[in-house]
Amino acid sequence: MAETILTVEKVSQHFDGLIAVNEVSLHVDKGEIVGIIGPNGAGKTTLFNAITGLTTPTYGRIVYRDTDITQMKAYQITSLGLARTFQNIRLCSGMTALDNVMVGAHSHLHSGIFSQILRTKKHREDEKAAYEKAMQVLELTGLTAYRYEYATSLPYGLQRRLEIARAIATEPEILLFDEPAAGMNEQETSDLMEFILKVRDMGYTILLIEHDMRLVMNICDRIHVLDHGALIAQGVPAEIRSNPDVIAAYLGKEA
Ligand SMILES: Nc1ncnc2c1ncn2[C@@H]1O[C@H](COP(=O)(O)OP(=O)(O)OP(=O)(O)O)[C@@H](O)[C@H]1O
Ligand SMILES: [Mg+2]
Repeated sequence: MAETILTVEKVSQHFDGLIAVNEVSLHVDKGEIVGIIGPNGAGKTTLFNAITGLTTPTYGRIVYRDTDITQMKAYQITSLGLARTFQNIRLCSGMTALDNVMVGAHSHLHSGIFSQILRTKKHREDEKAAYEKAMQVLELTGLTAYRYEYATSLPYGLQRRLEIARAIATEPEILLFDEPAAGMNEQETSDLMEFILKVRDMGYTILLIEHDMRLVMNICDRIHVLDHGALIAQGVPAEIRSNPDVIAAYLGKEA
């Protein structure tokens, strides 16, 4: 039987008068790649923000395995095993690729501020563990050769990959990608598709928002469609492709 790891139950997000997300329910099972699509402003990123604790939903419930995470802060949710990337790349510009991944690796180490200031043995051990973890993730994600380059000087496709690497370094179970192919050319998108499948095969579960239909239709096991904050369709790629509501709301706009 499928093992559900993330459940979103009738989640709504209101901003003053605007209902950005309207009673959305979905679940993600272990090992799946689940897609969320929908026109600009449909509420996709807002839903991700609610799931990852950047905002607290106005109504509804979000459950990760057996834990209700609805009211939790972002750092608590990350430490439970959910990691994300952002629609606009958020790498630290003055830092190398390695340092950026070490930031992720540090998120589950626990030497407190005092041991950092005093540079205690525990702090040195944590530094070493973060370094080793980061090097391992760079290798896994094919970024080892770029480890001493400044993150923001890397080609665009590699910056996106580095963001994913930093998320993986937090040792999550589920990864949420917000438009990972945004701004990529066709070749970069093809490389990304292959990379996401590889990440899934490493044992991660993936929930992704994406506008690139080739990517979504090729790699997602199931797709959810949002329009004006509400879920208007869900199903396997073939069902979504031929769903008249989806064509009207989304694909129709592109055609
Ligand atoms: N913090 C906020 N305060 C007020 N309104 C917001 C806030 N965040 C998002 N919105 C609004 O909520 C709606 C949904 O926005 P959201 O960014 O979730 O859309 P999206 O589906 O991710 O779109 P895109 O494909 O363009 O990224 C939009 O109308 C947006 O202006
Ligand atoms: Mg968005």
